[in-house]
Amino acid sequence: MPNAAVNNSEFITNSSEETIERGREIARSLKPHTLVLLSGDLGAGKTTLTKGIASGLGAAAEDEVTSPTFTLVHKYEKKSRVYHVDLYRVSNFHDLETLGLEDVFAEDAIVIVEWPERFTLRTDWPIVRIHLEHISEDSRKISVER
Ligand SMILES: Nc1ncnc2c1ncn2[C@@H]1O[C@H](COP(=O)(O)OP(=O)(O)O)[C@@H](O)[C@H]1O
Ligand SMILES: [Mg+2]
Repeated sequence: MPNAAVNNSEFITNSSEETIERGREIARSLKPHTLVLLSGDLGAGKTTLTKGIASGLGAAAEDEVTSPTFTLVHKYEKKSRVYHVDLYRVSNFHDLETLGLEDVFAEDAIVIVEWPERFTLRTDWPIVRIHLEHISEDSRKISVER
């Protein structure tokens, strides 16, 4: 049995570029049918990390990845498929249903979710939890739990 602790890790980054680079590294260990939950305050770097993960997976260039704050779901698809979801403005279960995430969980994709504590998503996919914390203006602590 693999030791769970081996798969947990913590990093400090000192710029958004470093966070994007960490995202690319995390992407190397992600397979389709994985749900990635990104928690942390506003401005903690969830969208920035997603730029790295999506570009590392070959789903989009980092500049193409923008916050799905208002659109709620972005789909990136090139060499692989990534859905980037923001639950911040989803206020009730009806709105959640209209996002059609159940169908997404039937696809060969990786799903990345910001503000995952707002709703529990139903899926049997393995979950990678990543928490981002402000340390200072340009420093963030990134904890990965698998
Ligand atoms: N080390 C860092 N990692 C990530 N973002 C950083 C870092 N230092 C400064 N920032 C800035 O913090 C902001 C993070 O914003 P964003 O990724 O949209 O956060 P969130 O999606 O968590 O609200 C960006 O303006 C980014 O440039
Ligand atoms: Mg964001």
